Amino acid sequence: MKKIIIEGGNKLTGTIKISGAKNSVLAIIPATILSDEGATIYNVPRISDTNSLIDILELLNGKVTFTDETITLDNSEMENKLIPQEYSSKLRASYYFMGALLGKFKRCEICLPGGCNIGARPIDFHLKAFEQMGAKIETDCNKHILTAEKLKGANIFLDFASVGATVNIMLAAVKAEGITTINNAAKEPEIVNIATFLNNMGAKITGAGTSVIKIVGVDYLGKAIIDIIPDRIEAGTYLIAGALLGRDLKIEGVIKEHLEAVDSKLREIGASLEVSENSIIVNVAEKLKPVNVKTLVYPGFPTDLGQPMTTLLTQCEGTSIFEETIYENRFGNVAFLNKMGANIIIKDKNLILAGNKKLKGNIVRATDLRAGASLIIAGLIAEGETVVEEAEHILRGYENIVEKLRDVGAKIKIEE
Ligand code: UD1
Repeated sequence: MKKIIIEGGNKLTGTIKISGAKNSVLAIIPATILSDEGATIYNVPRISDTNSLIDILELLNGKVTFTDETITLDNSEMENKLIPQEYSSKLRASYYFMGALLGKFKRCEICLPGGCNIGARPIDFHLKAFEQMGAKIETDCNKHILTAEKLKGANIFLDFASVGATVNIMLAAVKAEGITTINNAAKEPEIVNIATFLNNMGAKITGAGTSVIKIVGVDYLGKAIIDIIPDRIEAGTYLIAGALLGRDLKIEGVIKEHLEAVDSKLREIGASLEVSENSIIVNVAEKLKPVNVKTLVYPGFPTDLGQPMTTLLTQCEGTSIFEETIYENRFGNVAFLNKMGANIIIKDKNLILAGNKKLKGNIVRATDLRAGASLIIAGLIAEGETVVEEAEHILRGYENIVEKLRDVGAKIKIEE
C-alpha cells in the first residue's frame, strides 16, 4: 500500500506542466483496436490506468511500445479473447473494449468493469445501444458476452448525456452498416479528441462536441495518429491548489476554453488568474469568498473537480453549498476533511461547508481518485503532517503528482 506524506503550509511557486488527458487516452487506447493498420498516440500520461489498458491490449496479442510519451500499437496479430476480471476490474474504462471489440470482431467477452467507487455506475445505456445496433447480449454472473452477425446503424437517444455510453457507441458504430445517430450525446472535450482519432483513421463522425453525433459506417480504417489533449481535470486540480497557496503558480500546457467553469468559480471566490494562450498563472486570494458550486455535464463545473473544490470551500470566509448532480456517492473525502478540522454536513446530494476552518494534519485515506486529490490539497494547506493512505487511487489518474508538487515548493513524498 502506498502513502503520500505532506508537511503543510508551503506556498506553491513555479511551473506545473499538464499531462495528456486521462479520459481521452483511456478511450483512445481501446479504440486503436479498430484500426486495420495500427496507431500512434502522442502525449500519453504515465498513470497506472494507462498501464492497465496496455496490459489488456497485450493480452489480446497487440504489440505495444510505450517510450517517453508515445504509444505505438501494431495490431496485425490481434486476437479476440475473453478479458478476465483481473484485467478489467482495475479500471472502469475497460468497458471501452466492448465497443471496440464489437466494432472490429462483432464479438466481445468481458467481465464487469471496475473503477472508482462513487455510486452505482450502471452501463445500461451502453448495452441498450449495442442491442439497438443488432448485438445480442448474454450476461453470465459478471461476464458479458456481446455478439452480432452484423452491426447496423441506429438512431439512439441517451437518457443522460453519458460520456462512456457516447464513446462506446461511437466505437461500435464506426464500422457498422449505415448511419448511427447519438442524440443527447456527451459534449466533453475528450469526446472530440476521441472522434478526431477515429476520423484520422478514416471514420466518418460529425457533430462531436455537440449533443447530436452522426456516424456513417465504413469498411476499412487505416493507420491513425493523435495527440492527446491536455488534462483539464489535472489542470483544474492544480488551479484549486493555487487559489489556496499559489505565488505566481503557472499551470502550463492547457486549453483555456476547457477550463472556463473552473476559472469563473475561482474568480468568484477571489483568486487571481492570469490567462494566456496556453497557460494560467494563479495567485492565492486575499479573502476567499463563500460560493455555491453545482456539478454539471460539460461545459458546466466538472464532477471530477467537485472533491478538490470542497477542500477550497472549507477555507472560504462563510458558508458555501456544494451540489453533486452526476453521482450519488462522491463524498468519500468528507469524513476525512472533517477529521482534519473541517465542518461539512452531507445532506442528500448537497454539502453544507462552514468556512474559515483551520485544517490540521492527520491520517486520512484516498477512497477514490478525486477524493485523494482533495486530501492532498488539504494536506498542502494543513498545519503539520498529513498521511494520505491508499495513494494508488491517486496514481491512477495524476501523472507524477508528487514530483510536480515538490518541484513547485510542496513538502511531499510517497512511501510504500
Ligand atoms: C466519465 C469519466 C469520469 C467522469 C464522468 C462524468 C472516463 C473514463 N470517466 O465516466 O471521470 O466523472 O464521465 O463526467 O471518461 N449512467 C447510467 N447508465 C449508463 C451510463 C451512465 O445511468 O449506462 C449514469 C451514471 O451512473 C452517472 C451518469 O450517468 O450517474 C454519468 O456517467 P457517465 O458520463 O457515463 O460517466 P463515465 O463515462 O462512467
